[in-house]
Amino acid sequence: MTKRIYTDPSIASSEITPESVFLNRRAFIRASSGTAATALGLSTAALASAAEPVELSYQTDPDGSLRGEQTPYDAVTSYNNFYEFGTDKSDPARHAHSMATDPWTIRVGGLVDQPGELHLEDVMSGFDLEERIYRFRCVEAWSMVVPWIGFPLATLLKRFAPSAEGRFVEFKTLYRPGEMRGTRSFTSVIDWPYREGLRLDEAMHPLTLMAVGLYGKTLPNQNGAPLRLVVPWKYGFKSIKSIVEINVTAEQPETSWQTLQPSEYGFYANVNPEVDHPRWSQRFERKLPSSIFKPNRAPTLPFNGYREQVAGLYEGMDLRQFY
Ligand code: MTE
Repeated sequence: MTKRIYTDPSIASSEITPESVFLNRRAFIRASSGTAATALGLSTAALASAAEPVELSYQTDPDGSLRGEQTPYDAVTSYNNFYEFGTDKSDPARHAHSMATDPWTIRVGGLVDQPGELHLEDVMSGFDLEERIYRFRCVEAWSMVVPWIGFPLATLLKRFAPSAEGRFVEFKTLYRPGEMRGTRSFTSVIDWPYREGLRLDEAMHPLTLMAVGLYGKTLPNQNGAPLRLVVPWKYGFKSIKSIVEINVTAEQPETSWQTLQPSEYGFYANVNPEVDHPRWSQRFERKLPSSIFKPNRAPTLPFNGYREQVAGLYEGMDLRQFY
C-alpha cells in the first residue's frame, strides 16, 4: 500500500519533531509491533513509512513554513475543549481517561448504499495513515499547529457508497454519562450527544481528515480518541471528537453549537477574519502556548490559510450570511 505524508518530503520526520516526541514515537512503533497489533498494526507500518520517500497528493504548505511552528505536545494535550469532561481547558486532560475507547464501533448509515459498522481494528488496519501538519484555529481565537496522523474522510465515506441524494454528513460523539462527568454536570448546556456536520463536498475534500493520532502517537483521550475529525479551514468546534456515528443526509443536520446559539456559531464556521464573533473580533489569534506576558498574537488568515484549496467550495456564497 502506498503511504503518504503531507509535509515537505525533503525533511525527515526527525528534523521537524522535537526529539523527546520523536523518541516517544519510536516507542509507540515498538509497542505497536507486538501482539496487540490488531488495533495498532497499520499505525506501525504507516508511521514507520513516514521516514521513507513519499508521494504527495498535493501541496498545502509549499514553503514548509508550518514545520517550524508546531505547537508543543504538552500544550496540544493539556489545553483542550471537550465539554463531555468539563468546560475548563484543563478538565479534559484531567478527566477524559475515564472514557473507555476499546472496543470502539462507528456506525455509518443514512443515505449510503452499503451501511455498516467499523470497529477500531478495521480503522487501524484498513486505511493508509498519513502525517499532516495543519493549522488549527478555535472560534475562541486561540490557535495551534498540530502534526496529526490520520486518513482522508473521503476514503472512509467512499467505502459506504453515499447515494445520489446525499448532500450532507452528520457526526455524533460517544455519549456515555457514566464515563463523562461533564455531561452529568448541572452547568452542562449541550443537548448530548455532541453533533456536527459538513456538506458532502466539504466532507469529501482531501484536506478533511479523520485523525487517529498526533505527534506520532495514538490520540490521547482529551484530544478525541480513538478517532476524531479535523477540518483545518473551519473553527475547531467542527472538528468533532470520539466519533461513534456518521450519517449521510439530504438535509443540513442539526449541530450542537448552532443549535445552542445560532447567532454566534454558524453551520459553515469557516475561519474568517472579516466576520467577527458577536462578542469578540476574529482578526487576530493567540498562538499556543500563550500568556499575558507573551500573548503570541498573529493575524488570522482567511480559511485559516487554506483559501487556495477550499475557497472554490463557497463560490457565489455570501460568507457573511453563511458564517
Ligand atoms: N468534540 C466534542 N465531542 N466535544 C467538544 O466539546 N469541542 C470542539 C472540538 N470537538 C468539542 C469537540 C472545540 S470547541 C474545539 S476548539 C476542538 O474540539 C478542540 O480540540 P483540541 O482539544 O484537540 O484542541
